[in-house]
Amino acid sequence: MSQFSRRQFLERSLTTAAGLSVVGAAQALPSEKKKASANERVNIAVIGVNGRGLGHVNGYLEHPLANLVAICDVDENAIGRAMALGMKSDKKLKYYSDIRQMLEDSTIDAVSIATPNHWHALASIWSMQAGKDVYVEKPVSHNVHEGRVMVEASRKLNKICQTGTQVRSMKGSIEAIEYIHSGKIGTVTLARGLCYKRRKSIGRKSDTATPKGVHYDLWQGPAPERAFNPNRFHYEWHWNWAYGNGDLGNQGIHQMDVARWALNKHTFPNSVVSLGGRFGYVDDGNTPNTLVSVFDYGDAELIFEVRGLETAPLNGAMVGNIIYGTEGYVVFTGYDTALAFDNSHNKVQEFKGGGDHYGNFLEAVKSRNRKAQRADILEGHLSSALCHLGNISYHLGKPQHSTSKVEGFEGGEASMETYNRFQTHLANNGVNLNEVTFTVGPKLKIDGRHESFGGNREANQHLFREYRAPYVVPAKI
Ligand SMILES: NC(=O)c1ccc[n+]([C@@H]2O[C@H](COP(=O)([O-])OP(=O)(O)OC[C@H]3O[C@@H](n4cnc5c(N)ncnc54)[C@H](O)[C@@H]3O)[C@@H](O)[C@H]2O)c1
Repeated sequence: MSQFSRRQFLERSLTTAAGLSVVGAAQALPSEKKKASANERVNIAVIGVNGRGLGHVNGYLEHPLANLVAICDVDENAIGRAMALGMKSDKKLKYYSDIRQMLEDSTIDAVSIATPNHWHALASIWSMQAGKDVYVEKPVSHNVHEGRVMVEASRKLNKICQTGTQVRSMKGSIEAIEYIHSGKIGTVTLARGLCYKRRKSIGRKSDTATPKGVHYDLWQGPAPERAFNPNRFHYEWHWNWAYGNGDLGNQGIHQMDVARWALNKHTFPNSVVSLGGRFGYVDDGNTPNTLVSVFDYGDAELIFEVRGLETAPLNGAMVGNIIYGTEGYVVFTGYDTALAFDNSHNKVQEFKGGGDHYGNFLEAVKSRNRKAQRADILEGHLSSALCHLGNISYHLGKPQHSTSKVEGFEGGEASMETYNRFQTHLANNGVNLNEVTFTVGPKLKIDGRHESFGGNREANQHLFREYRAPYVVPAKI
């Protein structure tokens, strides 16, 4: 904060409980002239403002269709930057620590959720039940069941619910997908998603007293109650199953979504199998830093690779996708960039260009046309569910030493090739393949109609979680 210190700010603004109004400096936004009139703008609040939520705050402050009116965060120490942004834009932001109090505010039309994953479903459902439209970060859910209830809430309560997979609004990606769907690379047989993103060890940290200003019961919400630990708090929660979904459900969900989008699949796959582990270090995280998941759609396959250790790109992609067709392939090298090649590896087309995902949401809120959304909650649910399914096979896995063949991966040329590269990748990182074991999950059959594993009770248990009252995602709306 440049104008005055965060401490001064907190002293001034946090002496009261939720609902305090803060008036900022009287400076007009450069974009103010372009703003729609006050009653044409969507009054919006951002929930969770530590990392990604700041992007939401910025996005709405600058957006001509938005009127940012409030922020909500359970950590009073985390709100300084968001409040400062509001003040810089001459905004009277209200602050709430408890989402339930905020939802009573009838001046708020819509909310934008950037909390940890374990809160996404509950915050979205409560918001829709309170009459608000919702933009919710990816993955939309913490488990498969939650995503389905969110879809139901949006439909039954007639609320717009947009997924925060902004790639869906980017011109470069939209055009590349149109290119694929129009048959330019022939019949698509395989969509590969890559999350090659270096993740260092988070180390080991002891439990501590909850820091002052943190409403930790609220932060934990639906998850089991535990002592406070910085390695399970801001951002690091991604690496703990109680709150996060590992890198498959962190960075990976973006590329999972592109893979499914490219395949043009709107159902669950027939089966899933995963293998992996947390290699290279021992720390407080319990999610895999290396994972391969194979999804069978009958006429096409989706293979996802997570690599948290050092790695070289695959076909020029690190965090991206490679979509293979009978006549060529398309490589997505970034959120807004893709390249098309023929089967002789000649580049035949390039796609580039960004987009306005917040704007797409705001327009849908105003038009009440959920079909105008580029990432309706159903899309978010289907892609988030793929991440959960991949993680479930891993959860049910058993330790196995490296072998030349591995059950569930055999029989598929691409899956075996991926398994072999997975082993080479680990060896290149100094992992002794004779000593370590891989967690090899079962190949799970999926009943797409019921979004379950049929009669497999053990696997079905992972589609849900036990909720800690009163933070309960309802079974139905
Ligand atoms: N779309 C993208 O490109 C993108 C990028 C980064 C993160 N994300 C997503 O955004 C979300 C947040 O990620 P982050 O890195 O900012 O996490 P973070 O832990 O840094 O921030 C989350 C914030 O939410 C607050 N919070 C927790 N429970 C709350 C509740 N019940 N009510 C109000 N506030 C609550 C926390 O105190 C914290 O300030 C994640 O789901 C992540 O996957 C999306």
